[in-house]
Amino acid sequence: MATIAFPVERFADIRTPFYYYDTNILRQTLDAINTEIKKHDNYFVHFAVKANANLKVLKVINEAGLGIDCVSGGEIEQVLKAGFPANKIVFAGVGKSDWEIELGLDKNIFCFNVESIPELEVINEIAQRKGKVATICFRINPNVGAHTHAHITTGLAENKFGIDMQDMEKVIHLAQEMKNVQFKGLHFHIGSQILEMDDFIALAHRINELQDRLEAQGIHIDIINVGGGLGVDYADPQGNPIPNFKDYFTVYEKYLKLRPGQTVHFELGRAVVAQCGALITKVNYVKENAIKRFAIVDAGFTDLIRPALYDAHHRIINLTAESSLDPLKYDVVGPICESSDTFDKDILLPKTHRGDLLAILSAGAYGEIMASLYNCRKLPEGYTDEELR
Ligand code: LLP
Repeated sequence: MATIAFPVERFADIRTPFYYYDTNILRQTLDAINTEIKKHDNYFVHFAVKANANLKVLKVINEAGLGIDCVSGGEIEQVLKAGFPANKIVFAGVGKSDWEIELGLDKNIFCFNVESIPELEVINEIAQRKGKVATICFRINPNVGAHTHAHITTGLAENKFGIDMQDMEKVIHLAQEMKNVQFKGLHFHIGSQILEMDDFIALAHRINELQDRLEAQGIHIDIINVGGGLGVDYADPQGNPIPNFKDYFTVYEKYLKLRPGQTVHFELGRAVVAQCGALITKVNYVKENAIKRFAIVDAGFTDLIRPALYDAHHRIINLTAESSLDPLKYDVVGPICESSDTFDKDILLPKTHRGDLLAILSAGAYGEIMASLYNCRKLPEGYTDEELR
């Protein structure tokens, strides 16, 4: 199986830290997705661009024919720039601004995922002003838990997302009375970095219940959007670079009860891009005290915030001293003056020196795109293997 390859000799002239994307891994991941969804002519995958909006990455994803899931006007602009057709864009988000709704309408996007009655009213009003009809799905809060970090669980009643399931009939009838929105379907998303297929099975059951209930009242659904959330193997990215798409899509094939003519939409982000990307950083200093040995690198949480924000663990390898008989324990830390600026603690690395390049793996999703300017640091650049050849 392919693993991410690092053309280390090409890295010498590039300012660190930077993101590196292996397009072979990305293409193999996209092939694995397409192999599964081609078994169904009514399955559509929309890449959740919030995971990675790098234009070079987006172009490869567009070439593979995926649609796109946006959560802001900025994302819509970015994906149009990357060449995605507007009619493959779904647009979600709990707090869409007027200009974002206008943009979606002007570009004739595929569908708005609507999260509240006030939002429905605003979309109807803006569409009326423009003489347009907006295609809408309702995002439903299915009250299904997911076995993942609390910050990225979204499908519980306590979360701010979606509309309560018990209010659905009322909301759908309201939409059906409006002239400038067309109700087409249901949208769900229970969380992210989910590796237990049982969580997705629970979602499928919940969707079935709701469909039965709505059908009994003569409400017809065209679109079922199950959101994203499939996780990746952060512990062993090299052993397991391609997520298990077969198991994931099989859950929906087996458990989701479809009516004739229905299409099923998926919004995968992390599973598409996490493993093709790494953050490359240089060791500035190695320092030891009585109890610790620190590798102080030039990347900080401004470049990759996941460890600080979610206690995430990304595998770290030394690209300069790739193997060693006598690995030592290091805390890999950044230069920012906050203790949370730590990539990992007590990890084994070959003896590491000033100037060594480290790769922080599985950083293709929610890495570059979550970078910030804190401390007036520079935003990291992103490069693909293709441009470094
Ligand atoms: N659809 C909706 C409505 C979402 O809210 C999300 C992610 C996705 C799709 C894509 O989920 P994925 O397939 O990537 O799990 N920054 C966090 C992840 C936040 C995810 C937010 N929503 C992290 O670094 O782990």
